[in-house]
Amino acid sequence: MTPSPEQVAAHTAQFQDRMQQEELAIVRRAYAKHVLANAGVDDARVEAAFAAVRREHFLGLGPWLMPRWSRRYVPTPSDDPVYLYQDALVGIIPERGLNNGQPSLHAMLIAAAASRPGQHVVHIGAGVGYYTAILAHMVGESGRVTAIEFDGGLAERLVANFARQRNVRALPGDGAQIEFDPADVIYVNAGATRPADIWLDRLKDGGRLILPLTSDKGFGENPENIPIQQRGAVFGIKRGGGEFLAKWISAVAIFPCEGARDAESERALAAAFEKGGWERVTRLYRRGDLPDERCWLNAPDWALAYD
Ligand SMILES: C[S@@+](CC[C@H](N)C(=O)[O-])C[C@H]1O[C@@H](n2cnc3c(N)ncnc32)[C@H](O)[C@@H]1O
Repeated sequence: MTPSPEQVAAHTAQFQDRMQQEELAIVRRAYAKHVLANAGVDDARVEAAFAAVRREHFLGLGPWLMPRWSRRYVPTPSDDPVYLYQDALVGIIPERGLNNGQPSLHAMLIAAAASRPGQHVVHIGAGVGYYTAILAHMVGESGRVTAIEFDGGLAERLVANFARQRNVRALPGDGAQIEFDPADVIYVNAGATRPADIWLDRLKDGGRLILPLTSDKGFGENPENIPIQQRGAVFGIKRGGGEFLAKWISAVAIFPCEGARDAESERALAAAFEKGGWERVTRLYRRGDLPDERCWLNAPDWALAYD
């Protein structure tokens, strides 16, 4: 049975007797430095957020399962939260391969999203909320985060984890459909084959969308040993008026996004990964009539193009 936030809090308190809270704070500061170094990111605000947020508050009672050695999950040696301060995935629903994401990948993407105090961030695929809390730290009390999670059980935990935090609104539902207020940042944490219309419609002028795109090979077993660069890519999309600038940020393999995958876009994406050239993409268009030679990806009603 999933422990209540109260049970998690009581258990964590026992650890605070053994390893003083100040010691964990020091561990977190070192963790934040390592995570940012691994990400190749120099951003004091992102580092401060990683140093401040308690990962154990979100992940339930330990020992925790961490995927090691080609996806086999191994329990941490004990339920000491110090084991969570590694640049490593932690299983949330291990039997489905659903994990709390790699800290250095998120540090890189959160830095690229560049949210500022006072802004509105929409977090899609929030899981149980660890990275939601990091985003909430970035926007501060004058800003807010709308966190959306599709899986019913995880959404319940997400809502409970933020019951007392005023700058976070946690919602169960499909983040490719559910209504939300216009956003400065839309931070998507699951693999789509295309941007959902609402993500582009609700992006404010100057707003940034962090968009992971994955082919059908972008999650799970990889018997053909396809390089990760040809399985998934995260693009940063920036709105300027009616235009959308696009830039490749990172390769990715990630859990699929419900409601933002379709067969036609998947075919176009698979062909684009096969062809290469993602790093030359500069624009996203919401139309399907561009000549192929201008495009990395040319789907029936949208495209990622070189100019
Ligand atoms: C890779 S997991 C990441 C979870 C979380 N960001 C973390 O790192 O702990 C992807 C999450 O996206 C959720 N998801 C998939 N499709 C979604 C959708 N359309 N709307 C909201 N959440 C979705 C999944 O249920 C899963 O929890």
